[in-house]
Amino acid sequence: MKIMVITSSPNRDGLTAACGNAARSGIEAAGAEAVIVDLNKMNISSCHACNSGWGPCLDNHNCQIEDDFQGLHMIMAGMDGFVFVSPVYWGDISESARVYFDRLRRCEAWKKDSSLADKPFIAVAAAGGSGNGVASTLTNVERLLIHLKADRLDFIGITKKNRAYKLDTVEEASKAMVAYIKGR
Ligand SMILES: Cc1cc2nc3c(=O)[nH]c(=O)nc-3n(C[C@H](O)[C@H](O)[C@H](O)COP(=O)(O)O)c2cc1C
Repeated sequence: MKIMVITSSPNRDGLTAACGNAARSGIEAAGAEAVIVDLNKMNISSCHACNSGWGPCLDNHNCQIEDDFQGLHMIMAGMDGFVFVSPVYWGDISESARVYFDRLRRCEAWKKDSSLADKPFIAVAAAGGSGNGVASTLTNVERLLIHLKADRLDFIGITKKNRAYKLDTVEEASKAMVAYIKGR
């Protein structure tokens, strides 16, 4: 079983990275393989909203901008589940996460038999000290995951104030995802 852990922060030692490490520990402790993806190390540009709004994403379910998007999109199809961690920027997901998921959503939303449909997802929003915008970030991810037709297992908000116990929550949720998939 393969679970992809997607992080989207430029900060190698920050809270997002710590959440990614916690997810990986949980996945591996449960006996599955963790496939780590750092969106900030990838070359993925923003959607061009081709033509009058829709390009080949609508009918062909692919994107004509050639960059790292295609490879990651293909690898995601072979995964059994996902843990997506974003830092909270302006009460929303980070820029690197937005450009990738904007294009992914366009390709997957109208696709029959989408390879992502019903795949379990855990979403984690990692905020700063104020914690302002954790809820709006997770609300936006919820809408995205509905468009992707994902099986939404958990939405976890973590801040600098609660990280001591919320990192354990991320690890336990990731472990539980493996058990959930095995039990299907
Ligand atoms: C551009 C920007 C916007 C941010 N907006 C928020 C915010 O709305 N709410 C919040 O609690 N923290 C905000 N922060 C703080 C980050 O969420 C916090 O530093 C978090 O730990 C970032 O993840 P990292 O540790 O992986 O870098 C912002 C940081 C940046 C750089």
